[in-house]
Amino acid sequence: MKRVVYPRAGGIETIQIVEEQDPVPKSGQVCVSIHRAGVNFADLMMRQGLYGSSPDFPFTPGYEAAGVVIGLGEGVDSVKKGDRVLAMTGFGGYSEMVCLDARRVVPIPDSVSFDQAAAIPVTYGTAFHMLVHLGMISEGETVLVHHAAGGVGTAVSQICEAFGASLVVGTASASKKDFVESLGMRFVDREKEDFVKVCNEMTGGRGVHHAIDPVGGSHLLRSYKSLRKGGKLYYFGASAAVKGQKRSRLSELRMWWGMPRFDPLGLMSSNKAVFGVHMGLLEDDSIFKGHLASLSGMLQEGKIDPVIDSVWRFEKVAEAQMHIHNRKNRGKVLLDFSPK
Ligand SMILES: NC(=O)c1ccc[n+]([C@@H]2O[C@H](COP(=O)([O-])OP(=O)(O)OC[C@H]3O[C@@H](n4cnc5c(N)ncnc54)[C@H](OP(=O)(O)O)[C@@H]3O)[C@@H](O)[C@H]2O)c1
Repeated sequence: MKRVVYPRAGGIETIQIVEEQDPVPKSGQVCVSIHRAGVNFADLMMRQGLYGSSPDFPFTPGYEAAGVVIGLGEGVDSVKKGDRVLAMTGFGGYSEMVCLDARRVVPIPDSVSFDQAAAIPVTYGTAFHMLVHLGMISEGETVLVHHAAGGVGTAVSQICEAFGASLVVGTASASKKDFVESLGMRFVDREKEDFVKVCNEMTGGRGVHHAIDPVGGSHLLRSYKSLRKGGKLYYFGASAAVKGQKRSRLSELRMWWGMPRFDPLGLMSSNKAVFGVHMGLLEDDSIFKGHLASLSGMLQEGKIDPVIDSVWRFEKVAEAQMHIHNRKNRGKVLLDFSPK
């Protein structure tokens, strides 16, 4: 079987595809033949050596994948050979086959495609965690989201619609205006418009209820300023530290330098909340499993439906990642590992 490997920190030229013996499931494990693996912005940051919680190099990235069970280790009876499943790989999903703990494998209904299954966990799981679990979003509330056309951004727009949000302000690159508007969001050109001003104008000067910021640096303070009293800010990424496909120490420094220090007295007197969110470091697995169960229900009721930007054969993994580096994706990018 083949798998993608990051041998060391670097640009896309460092990515390797290695061939090795098929893995054999150990006791308690399931072996899955992968058909689709999700590509996340975090995978690009890991490749650059910018992601604190990734394994030591060399390693195979890939948080999420969907495929078919082809082997069972001793004691596994939760799934059987031939079942279509979602594999919560943690790492290692960019692979033709993967063996993992049976508890990290969830059967998927026939009505759910491999594309949909591989596109949901990270993006929708994160959006659901912020808006529903932490934020308890309710009808009529207003939301600001950045990278609105991307994986998490499109998930946020659908979850907001499902929960009856009255306004979603979405920032993105200028070329994505029509796409963002087609999702029902108020588009803001991330380079030319001031999103703080737009949020204020659109809410009669009060600000939004929820601001979702994966950018960091001084951008985070502006997201905080877009909030109304009682509003909630979710901080969950560091895209400001990424400039192009190679690591940029200057961008990292700028981001850290610009990070706001929130004043607890200011938070208290405005009843605002600031949440830090890292889905890979949740203490309690059952929280995420609960989100997945809720999302599966929403998918089957037609309340969510992942927007797939593109599916790339895994040999083109570098091009797929460049597509995201170049800010071209509209929705989720997937890798195709299905057997030929
Ligand atoms: N903490 C967590 O648990 C967690 C989980 C999931 C995702 N995240 C974070 O959420 C963000 C979105 O993730 P995603 O996987 O859904 O990615 P994505 O939004 O599908 O793709 C990346 C998009 O981000 C924008 N962008 C901003 N800065 C960029 C840069 N320096 N280089 C390239 N693109 C840049 C681009 O859109 P525009 O130019 O149109 O803005 C690009 O299309 C990322 O920062 C990611 O790390 C965090």
